[in-house]
Amino acid sequence: MCGIVGYAGRQAAAPIIIDGLRRLEYRGYDSAGVAVHDGRGIEVVRALGKLRALNDAVAKRPLAGSLGIGHTRWATHGRPSEENAHPHVAGSVAVVHNGIIENHAALRRELIADGVKFSSETDTEIIAHLVDRSLKGGAKGLFEAVRASLQLVTGAYAIAVLSADEPGTIVAARHGSPLVLGFGENEMLCGSDISALLAHTRDMVFLEDGDVVELRAPVGDVGPSARIQTVTGIDVERPRKRIDWSPTMAERGGFKHFMLKEIHEQPDAIAATLRGRIDLENGDVHGAEIGLDGDAARAVRRVYIIACGTSYHAALIGRYWIEALARVPTVVELGSEIANRPAVFFEDDLVIAVSQSGETFDTLAGVKAAKAAGARILAVANVLDSAIPRLAHGELYTRAGPEIGVASTKCFTAQLTALLLVSIFLGRQRGALDAEAGRKLLQGLCEVPGHINELLGDQDYVRTIANSLVDATDVLFLGRGYNYPIALEGALKLKEISYAHAEGYAAGEMKHGPIALIDAQLPVVVVAPKDASYDKTLSNVQEVRAREGRVIALATKGDEAMHDLAEHIVWLPEAPEHVLPLLTVVPLQLLAYYVASRKGHDVDQPRNLAKTVTVE
Ligand code: F6R
Repeated sequence: MCGIVGYAGRQAAAPIIIDGLRRLEYRGYDSAGVAVHDGRGIEVVRALGKLRALNDAVAKRPLAGSLGIGHTRWATHGRPSEENAHPHVAGSVAVVHNGIIENHAALRRELIADGVKFSSETDTEIIAHLVDRSLKGGAKGLFEAVRASLQLVTGAYAIAVLSADEPGTIVAARHGSPLVLGFGENEMLCGSDISALLAHTRDMVFLEDGDVVELRAPVGDVGPSARIQTVTGIDVERPRKRIDWSPTMAERGGFKHFMLKEIHEQPDAIAATLRGRIDLENGDVHGAEIGLDGDAARAVRRVYIIACGTSYHAALIGRYWIEALARVPTVVELGSEIANRPAVFFEDDLVIAVSQSGETFDTLAGVKAAKAAGARILAVANVLDSAIPRLAHGELYTRAGPEIGVASTKCFTAQLTALLLVSIFLGRQRGALDAEAGRKLLQGLCEVPGHINELLGDQDYVRTIANSLVDATDVLFLGRGYNYPIALEGALKLKEISYAHAEGYAAGEMKHGPIALIDAQLPVVVVAPKDASYDKTLSNVQEVRAREGRVIALATKGDEAMHDLAEHIVWLPEAPEHVLPLLTVVPLQLLAYYVASRKGHDVDQPRNLAKTVTVE
């Protein structure tokens, strides 16, 4: 959703800030703006629409100065417009903000009663007026004024603030929305996301909730500096971390879209997620990151997985693995469905939160509820030090590198890898799997990157199928067992980026309703590898054919029966049943990609979607 970049250095700030914002575009936004201190005062340029519009506006009104803040906005309070775009200015103060100020209505009324005039509909402008009022009321500088103002607001925020009276200072703060500081060569940056800063530095500090930081630009021989305090003014130290993501990982690297690049990165993402975590000889998984020793693993009475969207589909497969391999009863719930009902958690629950961003509001809310009830939390996340792993007792990071395409692909298969590791770990610790069984499962998993490379080798077949689906307005996806969540995921990918209506269904449910949809027009994508439920899925295919439905099948090489029934087939390599969902999803990702790309859609930033959903 919204993105923040701040720069305090010796170079021209505006191009650096806009470049940083460009790297946050994937989060989703509808307007953008930048404020630069030129030594005499603050100049602000804002534009509705994409960064191109902001660049054009800056070209007409060049911004000089080496200190500034910028923002991409995804509208929450107030429609997308130039007036509502950040930065917001009040008196000598300019503010950018991510998150939501919950008591904005009361504060707005109070400020209006004080004679303040608002020029936008946003909750953010309130912060600008509060800081301005505090400065006029005698606060000793911007740092103190921001701290005082933040004591009045409730809600979630990350902010960055400039004052016309302090040409060398940015004050930034976080509470519930991420904010990271970057320590570059003679420059300091702040941003809502590591990717915005990677081109300048890999040395970063992750602020904690309640931290307020004063960034000081270099002056003469004195280098840049950062001072962190709590909102109440107590000095705090936060450790510097070296990020192992490289700047090129967040580039397209010759691919037309990030999504296509990320689909191709899946073999590496899976291999990286496995690295150093398995003990093939003993058929086991190292438990340290999972945060459970043998006794704790045996004490778990129930696994409860919380996730949203694509991560939820990974969680559904995780449930099947955990129940099959570790024999622990497992519940999967959408984060958004936990927040508003009295969900029940127990102290002997293992709650697994699955989230690429580690920041998804609903998943985070579910984790907080589970933690408050005393459950043990394991985070499966991709973004280091994000909010969900911070709350967890164990963190099993997916090592997929930055995922920029809004439609999640490599993080999904990396999440599956992590969840399979957790299932095997629990199975081994609880005696549900012996060493030989563990070894076989792990060997199968280690072979997945090779199988995916094979699937990626020849994409002509998927392109042909995609061409046949370009005009489809509805598509049905069917799958059973491990491949039921893959049908859901295939449908989600297609609708997200091609805007066609697509539905995923458990194949066994077809006769309970969706069969009514089938006619000669409806394409039905059936995920039907040779697994335990193959015969039943084949019967579904026959039922679809009997009603003249168009069948597109994913089938195991050499499946003659399917060959005779399907209009199109994607051939899958033979592989053990438990790893099949890691393979079957790949052609469905490619299918969605090629359909959307043929339609000329903005594949990496589909309409209305945001990569990191930090609102309820
Ligand atoms: C779909 C997609 C979303 C996310 C969902 C959860 O391609 O990316 O459905 O999976 O918003 O996000 P995370 O995993 O960051 O919690």
